[in-house]
Amino acid sequence: MTDSNSQDRVIIFDTTLRDGEQSPGATMTHNEKLEIAELLDEMGVDVIEAGFPIASEGDFEAVAEISRRSKNSVICGLSRAKTGDIDRAWDAVKHAAQPRIHTFIGTSPQHRAIPNLNMDEMADVIHNTVTHARNLCDNIQWSPMDATRTEDDYLCRVVEIAIKAGATTINIPDTVGYTAPAESAKIIKMLLERVPGADDIIFATHCHNDLGMATANALSAVDAGARQIECTINGLGERAGNTALEEVVMAMRVRNDIMPYQTRIDTTKIMNLSRMVATVSGFAVQYNKAIVGKNAFAHESGIHQDGMLKSADTFEIMRPEDVGIAETNLVMGKHSGRAALRAKLKDLGHDLADNQLKDVFVRFKALADRKKEIFDDDLLALMRDTASDAEHDHIQLNSLRVVCGTSGPQTAEMALEIDGEDVSTTATGDGPVDATFNAIKELFPHGARLQLYQVHAVTEGTDAQATVSVRMEEDGKIAQGQSSDTDTVVASAKAYINALNKLMVRRMKTKPS
Ligand code: KIV
Ligand code: ZN
Repeated sequence: MTDSNSQDRVIIFDTTLRDGEQSPGATMTHNEKLEIAELLDEMGVDVIEAGFPIASEGDFEAVAEISRRSKNSVICGLSRAKTGDIDRAWDAVKHAAQPRIHTFIGTSPQHRAIPNLNMDEMADVIHNTVTHARNLCDNIQWSPMDATRTEDDYLCRVVEIAIKAGATTINIPDTVGYTAPAESAKIIKMLLERVPGADDIIFATHCHNDLGMATANALSAVDAGARQIECTINGLGERAGNTALEEVVMAMRVRNDIMPYQTRIDTTKIMNLSRMVATVSGFAVQYNKAIVGKNAFAHESGIHQDGMLKSADTFEIMRPEDVGIAETNLVMGKHSGRAALRAKLKDLGHDLADNQLKDVFVRFKALADRKKEIFDDDLLALMRDTASDAEHDHIQLNSLRVVCGTSGPQTAEMALEIDGEDVSTTATGDGPVDATFNAIKELFPHGARLQLYQVHAVTEGTDAQATVSVRMEEDGKIAQGQSSDTDTVVASAKAYINALNKLMVRRMKTKPS
């Protein structure tokens, strides 16, 4: 990290791979995590919280591999206030050029009740665990979870203990999204004024968006003296999510006159990361989301369009290219070659190796045979499908043929490959999608419940691709599946199979006890 000590420099700590991935259904594969970490590193994120190593073997492996590969960012692993957790986090991050251990404990009355510790007992735990962590690593972050509902005096006391025990960053989490901008600032000011040693460490702000104030709360904490913002791409995170990286970074850039802070973020990489995170998490970005929503730069009303034609700054406070939205008029079609496809995908944030391009090109040609004009959104949908870890998938669709119409029963003839074995069946149902899902259930019996089934047209026209999203639940574990095809029933089958494959990955993940 360079120049992070300068007064107006704000450290960007990205927790998409930890707090973001924790949101139900947002499971990412190992390779997806590595890819996102690489992009975050390239974008200039100062600290990447790569996971919760004690949570599962998969989390541990991902944090360790990201640590080995990171070039510029500090790599951080989360741990509870337990020496075993801390050791595991250290084993994962110690491979990084710049490792950090982040350890936390809930300090509010609500959270103290869970381990049933009184204030003094908890203070001892904090002293012991932070000391243990600091003996392993020089860069220690400590969080009093639910800080914004912790009594002021107790918060000052435990922060002082953590600083004395060797914490170098103190994070103030608004765990349940309860605070408001004025209070967020007040807490940081109080800590800076009252806690001995507060000037020697960095205060961080970590906000959740339950009341829609995460961005405002984070920026307000910075105004009061916090110098690290914890955030996620697209605001991904449990419940209503976390502070969105793109919002705080662009707010500080666009309104630098009143928020004179600097970050190291290359903002032109924002859009690609946003798309990548939406793709792998299965959490689509809402159209009117600030900065990265599809409509964020669209001006439809006549007055706005007229103004924009005369001068862009009539209605535009930032330029699309500032966040990496390319001016792309080039529509692809069946005569487009491999080089054009590669260039276009690169514009859209997918820099493909030759073997990947070969596979995508075959799929692109197949799509172009069915659809005259291929738009950016079609290509992004194609990439979403490619992102499903096909070679590691337990279940793959070999073929599907559906009979539907006014006179039933609707019938699906389906062939799947399950763990290398070919199986097939014919099933009926209440409509073609129901028949298709019944066929999957016959071939792969499971207890997972379909919670959500949604169909969206990717572009306009009757030959448009449909993107189908499904959400499935099994024993409290949730997985999202997504797929696109010009045939809605095929897209439905692939989305359902995609969710089942992810559920199988989830089955192997054991949560920390
Ligand atoms: O929201 C929260 O309190 C957290 C902590 C683990 C930092 O994510
Ligand atoms: Zn959090």
